[in-house]
Amino acid sequence: MEGRIISISGSVVIVNGLNDAKMNDMLLVGDRGLVSEIIKMDGENAIAQVYEDTTGLKLGEKVIDTGAPLSVELGPGLIGSIFDGVQRPLDVIMKKEGQFIGSGVRVDPLDRKRKWHFKPKASSDQEVEEGDEIGEIKESSLIKHKVIVPVGVKGKIKKIVEEGDYSIEEVLAVLDGGGKKTELKMLTKWPVRSARPVAEKLPPVIPLLTGQRVIDTFFPIAIGGSAAVPGPFGAGKTVISHQLAKWSDADIVVYCGTGERGNEMTEILSTFPDLKDPKSGKPLMDRTVLIANTSNMPVAAREASIYTAITIAEYYRDMGYNVALMADSTSRWAEALREISGRLEEMPGEEGYPAYLARRLGEFYERAGRAKLLGGKTGSVSVIGAVSPPGGDISEPVSQNTLRVTRVFWALDASLANSRHFPSINWLNSYSLYTDELDDWYYKNVGKDWPDLRKRAMALLQKESDINEIAQLVGYDALPENDKLVLDIAKIIREDYLQQNAFDEIDTYSSIEKQHSMLDVIMKLYDVEKQLVDGGIVVSTLENADIKQMIARLRYTKEEDIKSALASIRTEMNKIAKAQRG
Ligand SMILES: Nc1ncnc2c1ncn2[C@@H]1O[C@H](COP(=O)(O)OP(=O)(O)OP(=O)(O)O)[C@@H](O)[C@H]1O
Ligand SMILES: [Mg+2]
Repeated sequence: MEGRIISISGSVVIVNGLNDAKMNDMLLVGDRGLVSEIIKMDGENAIAQVYEDTTGLKLGEKVIDTGAPLSVELGPGLIGSIFDGVQRPLDVIMKKEGQFIGSGVRVDPLDRKRKWHFKPKASSDQEVEEGDEIGEIKESSLIKHKVIVPVGVKGKIKKIVEEGDYSIEEVLAVLDGGGKKTELKMLTKWPVRSARPVAEKLPPVIPLLTGQRVIDTFFPIAIGGSAAVPGPFGAGKTVISHQLAKWSDADIVVYCGTGERGNEMTEILSTFPDLKDPKSGKPLMDRTVLIANTSNMPVAAREASIYTAITIAEYYRDMGYNVALMADSTSRWAEALREISGRLEEMPGEEGYPAYLARRLGEFYERAGRAKLLGGKTGSVSVIGAVSPPGGDISEPVSQNTLRVTRVFWALDASLANSRHFPSINWLNSYSLYTDELDDWYYKNVGKDWPDLRKRAMALLQKESDINEIAQLVGYDALPENDKLVLDIAKIIREDYLQQNAFDEIDTYSSIEKQHSMLDVIMKLYDVEKQLVDGGIVVSTLENADIKQMIARLRYTKEEDIKSALASIRTEMNKIAKAQRG
C-alpha cells in the first residue's frame, strides 16, 4: 500500500492514500524509507511519527505501509549489541557511516549472514506448542539462547535440522499443526507496544540482589519488581543505573540510556564494552543489550526506545532468564511523548504532558514481573526507571505517575549528593513495598536475625532524625546519654554502611553476607555500649575509637577477609566492655 506525504511538521507527517492503514502500523516514509509509526488515524489520513531525521523530506514523497506494527527483531545476536530506539545497530552503522548516523540508513538489526551453532532439543514427531524449547545456541560466553516455539504456534514436528551452524533466516524446524505448516527460524519479530504473554504472574518473593548496601538492606527490589529512582541533576541516577547493570544478580541486563547530553551516552558506549562481568570475569557485554539514544537523534526515537528495550527484555525472560531493565532517564521519554502530543495538537494535561501519560507509564511498568512462562519455566523482568524531575521537585507529573505504578522508591537527595554521601538515597523518604514479602527469603537465606536487624537499624536512623530536631532546640549537651549513643551509632550506619563508593574496587560491591555481618557488628556495638550507658557510663568516655575505625574499614575489606576482621572487632568489643564495666 502506497500513500503520499501531504504535511510535514518536524517529525510528524500526515499521509494520504493509505487505505488499509491501522493505528501503530510501521511506515517507511519518503524516498529514503524513514522508519515511522502511525500514531493517529484522522479520517482518510494517517498521522505518523517519524523516528529518524526528517530534514530534506518533501511533500508528495511516497509512503509505504508495511502492514505490521512497529516491531523488533528477536534472535541470537541481540546480546552484546548496541541499538538505537528503533533497533538500528549503532555499532555496525558507526563502523559504516562514522559518528553521525544519517537517516534512512538501512542496516538489519540482526546479522543475516552470521552462523550460529544450533543444538536441537526436540525431535521429529514430538508435539510442541508456544513457549516450548526446540533447541539452543551458545549466544555468548554467558548466555545460552533458547529457540522457542513462537506465541500462537503449535503442532507436531515434521522435520528438525541436525546440530550444526545456521543463520537466523534458515528454517530449523517445520511444524504441522492440523494441516497448517509453520516454519521455525531463529529470527522472529514482535510488536514493541504489546507485552509478550506469560502463563501466570508469580509473587515477588525473591530479592534482586544488587550488592548495594542501602538497596539490598533497606529498600530492596524484588526479582520481577519495579523501582523508580527520581533524582535532581547530578544526584547519582546514572551511577546507580550503571551499578545495577554491573552488579545486580540478573542473568541479563537491558540498558536503555536516553541521554540529554551527548557525552552521557558516549560514556556508556565507550565504557560498557570494556567492563568485565564481576562474577564470571567475562565481558559484561556478554550478558548485556544496550539501547542508546544519542542526542543527535530525533526526540521521537526516545519514545520508542523503552518499548524496544522492554520487548527485548521479555524475549529473554521467555527463555527462563531473570532480566533487569534499566531506563535512564524516563523523563526524556516523557518529554518525547509531550513533544509528539504537542505536534498532534492534543489537549495538554498537567505541565503540557498528554493526559495519557499516566496510562502509558502504567502499561510500561506493568510489563515487569516474575512469571510462569508459556513453556512452563520461570523468568522475570525487573524494571528500574530513573526520573529526572526539573529542579528535583518530584511533585511533577512524570515522578508522581511513576511512583504510582512502581513499588520501590529510591529518593535521591541533592543535599546528600552535595555532601558527597553516595549513593544519595535518602533513607527517611525512600521505601520498598517489597520488604515484607522478601523478609521470608532473607530470613531463610541470610539469617534468622536479618528482618529484626534491618528494622532495628532503620529505627535508629529514624530516631536520629528526631533527636537531631530536639538537639537543635536544646543543644547536644542537654541530650540524654542514651540519645547521644543513638546519634553515635546512627552516624556509623550512615557513614560506614549506607555510603558506598561506586569507584572503589572493593566497596563498589557488598555481597548480602558481607552486608549481614557488617550490620550485625554495628548493632552489636550498639547493644554493648547501650549496656554500658545504662550502667552509668557517659557516651563521651566510651573507649571505642579503635572499634569505630575497624568498623569503618569493613567497607574496604575484601569478602574473604571479612570473617577475621569481624573476629578482631568482637574481641576488641569484649575487652572494652569488660574493662569499662569493671
Ligand atoms: N555511588 C557513588 N559513589 C561515588 N560517587 C558517586 C556515586 N554516585 C554518584 N557519584 C558522583 O556523582 C556524580 C553524578 O552522578 P550521576 O552522573 O550518576 O548523576 P545523575 O543523577 O545521573 O546526573 P544527571 O541528572 O546529570 O543525569 C558522579 O559523577 C560521581 O562523581
Ligand atoms: Mg544521568
